[in-house]
Amino acid sequence: MEQNKKIMQLNEFELIESIQSGNISICVIGIGRIGLPTALSFANSGLFTIGVDINSKLVEMINSKIFPLKDEPGYDVIFDKVINQKFYASTKIRDVVPNSDVIVLSLPTPMDENNIPDYSALLSVGKQLGELLTKDSVVIIESTVEPGFIENEFINSIENSERKLVAGKDFAIGVCPETANPGQIMNDFEKLPRLVGAIDDHTSNVIMKIYKHVFTVDLISMPNCKTANAVKLTTNVFRDLNIAFVNELAILFEKVGIDIMTVLEAAKSKYNFQVHYAGPGVGGPCLPVNSYQMINLAKKMGLNTLKSVETARIINESMPDHVIDLLHDAFIESGKSLENANVLILGISYKPDVKDIQITPAEVIIKKLKFLKINVLIYDPYFKSTSVFNLQTESNLIEALQKADALIIVTAHKEFHNLDPIFLKSKMKSPIVIDSKCIINYKTVKNSGLIYRGLGRGKI
Ligand SMILES: NC(=O)c1ccc[n+]([C@@H]2O[C@H](COP(=O)([O-])OP(=O)(O)OC[C@H]3O[C@@H](n4cnc5c(N)ncnc54)[C@H](O)[C@@H]3O)[C@@H](O)[C@H]2O)c1
Repeated sequence: MEQNKKIMQLNEFELIESIQSGNISICVIGIGRIGLPTALSFANSGLFTIGVDINSKLVEMINSKIFPLKDEPGYDVIFDKVINQKFYASTKIRDVVPNSDVIVLSLPTPMDENNIPDYSALLSVGKQLGELLTKDSVVIIESTVEPGFIENEFINSIENSERKLVAGKDFAIGVCPETANPGQIMNDFEKLPRLVGAIDDHTSNVIMKIYKHVFTVDLISMPNCKTANAVKLTTNVFRDLNIAFVNELAILFEKVGIDIMTVLEAAKSKYNFQVHYAGPGVGGPCLPVNSYQMINLAKKMGLNTLKSVETARIINESMPDHVIDLLHDAFIESGKSLENANVLILGISYKPDVKDIQITPAEVIIKKLKFLKINVLIYDPYFKSTSVFNLQTESNLIEALQKADALIIVTAHKEFHNLDPIFLKSKMKSPIVIDSKCIINYKTVKNSGLIYRGLGRGKI
């Protein structure tokens, strides 16, 4: 910032002028799936932005003008526009933070093998911020955390440094939880309202002014950080719960001989029904983790359990077993043995049309198939001719089909939407199809010669 006053000392008029003239400097720590588009948006709005990341290969790639998020439409163009002009990447947090007015954190918040939230990246950066923050800089946490984590743990990680900085006095802090959907981040950044919560009203106002300049979406002011984080978790846990509900119905409807997709399509006509779809499980870095964050919070607060959320997790985590049950059932009908069969997995991403396998149900299904001594083949348009889960992936769909005794559709990538039963029958070694996303047209299966099991459809 050129003027001497720090951002928190500016009056309303000076603040707006500073933002509009690109006179404040931004640092985004963690430039992965969410942080990089965020940093690019800041830079594209005219604010000088540096992205900091411990992944030196990623930083090198970005500074060599190679855009790493190929499945994120729109940001490639912005990247080309701002790289080495308004945006740079760096591994050197010590050089960048002291020269930044605003420090945005988009660090990972995964969970460990016992489903306990792992906030170590945030806490380790918090400790460094305690040594590096300049007076009156603003820290904004976009990472998803459980309500109360900022107030009870993260602020302490900054304040506990030798400098004994005090939040609200020496530095300002707030949250703006990220809610974008991978694969459509630009669309969501342009349309989805954002929540802002902060340690005090003045900080909240400063953050709102900056975000309004960058994102041009509605901003919703929250009374504090924990309420903003509670909203973010609530929306995702809601989805996890509703998916568990349809997954359970799917298993029931298979037994009754009802097609879940027909039910959901008609149910959508009721104004207060919000549709969710059944599937082989719920993956990704958000939904499963967010449910466990809520469960963790409940335990911390002395509640024994959060029954509905825990039950949803149990149901959603059992779905890979159900997919294998459908496979068993189809092999019984075919009279063939599953042992040593070639089973082709179509799609390993945790959701359609993105290159992302974090907590994907495909991994669980593959492990279970291997345990059953089944040869697993993988075809995914985003992972061609590479090694994933210790398997070499296929490069050509038709060649993969020719080797397959059965296939399991796990991810509804666009490339699989028009798979025709007669085409599959003509190409596959044996025509067994498990459609865990119900993407094959129900009506075309009959008389096609496929041995077909759709999740939530059962035998056709
Ligand atoms: N991906 C999503 O769908 C999504 C959507 C909304 C919110 N979120 C939340 O946003 C946050 C970031 O998620 P993401 O998907 O972008 O994660 P990511 O793993 O894609 O990116 C995180 C980046 O942080 C870097 N990093 C890790 N530790 C670091 C450290 N100590 N210092 C500097 N950099 C470090 C990593 O190298 C990585 O590049 C998480 O809290 C996540 O829950 C994610």
